[in-house]
Amino acid sequence: MRRAIFPGSFDPLTNGHLDIIRRSLPLFDEIVVAILNNPEKNPMFSVDERRSMIEEILSRIDATTCRLVVDSFSGLTADFAREKQAAAIIRGIRAIGDYEYELRMALMNRRLQPEIETVFLTAAEEYSFVSSTLMKQVFELGGRVDALVPEPIIEKMRAKLNGAAAI
Ligand code: PNS
Repeated sequence: MRRAIFPGSFDPLTNGHLDIIRRSLPLFDEIVVAILNNPEKNPMFSVDERRSMIEEILSRIDATTCRLVVDSFSGLTADFAREKQAAAIIRGIRAIGDYEYELRMALMNRRLQPEIETVFLTAAEEYSFVSSTLMKQVFELGGRVDALVPEPIIEKMRAKLNGAAAI
């Protein structure tokens, strides 16, 4: 049983994240999408909101050979990976700019948990500029993010923005 965790903030999940999940399916028997509980970052969505949105989106993926699970964690990714008895930590690399930071994390995680490998997957070119932070910023300023963020999540972002405007 090959289990991997795919850790991140997922505030919100983008089509870039989904692309990495899809590419990971043939490689593992189970993938745990692991949402970091990091309230200091002042997220747009609570962990519970992110979890239910991700579950909804993942339920549409035809993943016959790989179980997709959503979980959340606090503290170190390496500790969570070990707790889950994961063989690997999945991270997506969009462009060369991501590599230095990702390499440092991978090496630190290896030092913390030497038996857990970080697996880097390259995102599709059309998502090479997509980040949750950019998507939120553009959306909040009235720009369109369709085809970059799953439609049901855009609806939730719209509801958040309208809710915020109503306060
Ligand atoms: O979606 P992100 O923000 O790029 O994800 C970054 C994440 C959550 C993978 C990273 O910040 C992380 O692992 N945080 C948990 C704390 C930790 O383990 N820090 C040391 C990393 S070597």
